[in-house]
Amino acid sequence: MQHFNIAIDGPAGAGKSTIAKMAAERLGFIYVDTGAMYRGMALYFLRQGISPSDEEAIKQACSQVEITIRYENGVQQIYLNGENVSSLIRREEVGNMASATSVYPAVREKLVELQRQLAAQANVIMDGRDIGTCVLPHAQVKIFLTASVQERAKRRYLELKAKGEKADLQEIRRQIEERDDRDTHRENSPLVQAEDAVYLDTSSLDIQQAAGRVLAIAAEKGIELPS
Ligand code: DC
Repeated sequence: MQHFNIAIDGPAGAGKSTIAKMAAERLGFIYVDTGAMYRGMALYFLRQGISPSDEEAIKQACSQVEITIRYENGVQQIYLNGENVSSLIRREEVGNMASATSVYPAVREKLVELQRQLAAQANVIMDGRDIGTCVLPHAQVKIFLTASVQERAKRRYLELKAKGEKADLQEIRRQIEERDDRDTHRENSPLVQAEDAVYLDTSSLDIQQAAGRVLAIAAEKGIELPS
């Protein structure tokens, strides 16, 4: 049976995961967060004390890492060698390590394979950087979801503040720009808009409105809400 695949790509902090999760719930699709997989690998490299610039050590470490995905109450959980690390991968340090180490083919090959397997088994909304261009080039719906750097930095700042964490808007903006630069300029599977992707700027949209746009784009391609 042919499954429906919706690919959502875009830069860090554009709201991809929140929006994709909401749209997946409405459609009855499975939401696949591929960034979490790169973060799971990154956590392993951090724990091993491997430098992000040591490609050889990272390549070797890849053979010792098993990333698996499970859905518990409909929520994606990431397992690193059998340990549920879902709550440990959200730190900035892990995100930056994921960005730095996702440039290597050894890391990407492992995870792309897992992502394709998931998409072949179910109707999915998958988000990341290279889903429409590389992982699922035949996805029925592709969306390039973005927002201005200023808006993305502001959202991240408010998110950290709400959690009672220390936050510096200028520093967050600097980190986002650095991550954008690395994710868009890397040699392997850089973040670019697929030719057949719909561009969606969420700078002036709230989450509900953005999810509504995603559903409208899906409906144009024949993916309707379940009745
Ligand atoms: O979406 P995120 O912030 O959780 O992703 C963390 C990093 O992982 C991101 O900076 C680049 C990398 N990544 C990738 O290279 N390809 C993907 N499909 C998803 C994430």
